[in-house]
Amino acid sequence: MAIVDFDMSGAQSFISENEMSQLRNETEDACVKLASKTGAGNDFLGWYDLPLRPDGDYCRLKAAAEKIRKDSEVLVVVGIGGSYLGARAVIEALTDPFANARALAGEGGTAVIFAGNSISPVYLSSVLDIVKDRDFSVNVISKSGTTTEPAVTFRFFKELLEKKYGRKGAAERIYATTDSSRGALKKMADAEGYETFVIPDDVGGRFSVLTPVGLLPVAVAGIDTDALLAGAREAFGEYNEAAFDVNACCRYAAARTALYRQGKSVELLVNYEPGLHFLTEWWKQLYGESEGKEGKGLFPAGCDFTTDLHSMGQYIQDGARIMFETAVEVRVPERDLVIGSDADNYDGLNYLAGRSMDYVNKQAAKGTAMAHIDGGVPNLKVSVERLDARSVGGLIYFFERACAVSGYMLGVNPFNQPGVEAYKKNMFKLLGKPM
Ligand code: PA5
Repeated sequence: MAIVDFDMSGAQSFISENEMSQLRNETEDACVKLASKTGAGNDFLGWYDLPLRPDGDYCRLKAAAEKIRKDSEVLVVVGIGGSYLGARAVIEALTDPFANARALAGEGGTAVIFAGNSISPVYLSSVLDIVKDRDFSVNVISKSGTTTEPAVTFRFFKELLEKKYGRKGAAERIYATTDSSRGALKKMADAEGYETFVIPDDVGGRFSVLTPVGLLPVAVAGIDTDALLAGAREAFGEYNEAAFDVNACCRYAAARTALYRQGKSVELLVNYEPGLHFLTEWWKQLYGESEGKEGKGLFPAGCDFTTDLHSMGQYIQDGARIMFETAVEVRVPERDLVIGSDADNYDGLNYLAGRSMDYVNKQAAKGTAMAHIDGGVPNLKVSVERLDARSVGGLIYFFERACAVSGYMLGVNPFNQPGVEAYKKNMFKLLGKPM
């Protein structure tokens, strides 16, 4: 069974097989460019075969995670963008939705709390309140080592740790994930003696989840990182070998390109599992930063269903016909419940008695896709059998690789992000940063 299945039957009335075959050569050319490292941004292709190359520090990383799980009630992960979203996506997909609450209540495990992903003093104050009377460690993640949000945030946690444990004790609880040789964070880590993990030079932030950027927090959350990497490895093998007609990754890239060229300007990634909310956030960054340039690119948006059907459903069904939907389906839920029968049946729900919640969820997904297709919203479907570490590793690699192929088909360099600098320039000027 494929690790990730792709089904475009919900887009049949929008993309003909003829259109797909016309895209075959173009898609295959993009794949060749990627594999032969001859496309734009080819110095940032370290992620491409990353699952095949075990990180030299992987055992040390696992030992660090074990130490943190033993000596810390909380791990604060400080980072933003590509140094944040991947770890959160994996953790939220694979852990109990209330894992942090349970850990903080002393029911076991280390709570993994993210900070440095905004400049909100309200949020930061709350995290500081949570950790001040608890044993905690910090994993500060920044490839450049100079990003304002995590750098400012880290100052607060460093100060608190030093107050609680002394400078040396604090240094034993700070883990820096950064560049191998450059940047302010690397300099500080070396000077203070923090344990460091390296973000490879040739892996950009949004492609870095399977490096220590994602793996350390994910391991602290108790997730099987071996299985995560094995899933990505499996996906790599599949997309290298499978021909276009059965290659899920190539077909997804081709289908979204076909819809973009028909004038669809928004791709909506939807899920029916709240744990996938941050996978969508990660995907939004991956596709938004990779494709949105030179006046081109699909706008990546996301919805959590059925929740957002009660807020965004009207627009999707009936508003401007500018979008298509890509649904992420989990075929078998990790847990399920059977709906009971009620003698009074006031709510009229006895017709569902004996049915599982998952059955109802799946019918909601089918009914929604049918309604949206009828309303002019093509539906692509990406499925995994279960939401386990292997499948999530596969999904990550599937989306990363399809993103690179799509980017080449769009004619952009999918691995740079020149637009991200504009707001920083203005902010630094307003803040009076010495240049
Ligand atoms: O994908 C990217 O390059 C960005 O989103 C970065 O990850 C983000 O700006 C954080 O950068 P850094 O890791 O250098 O702090």
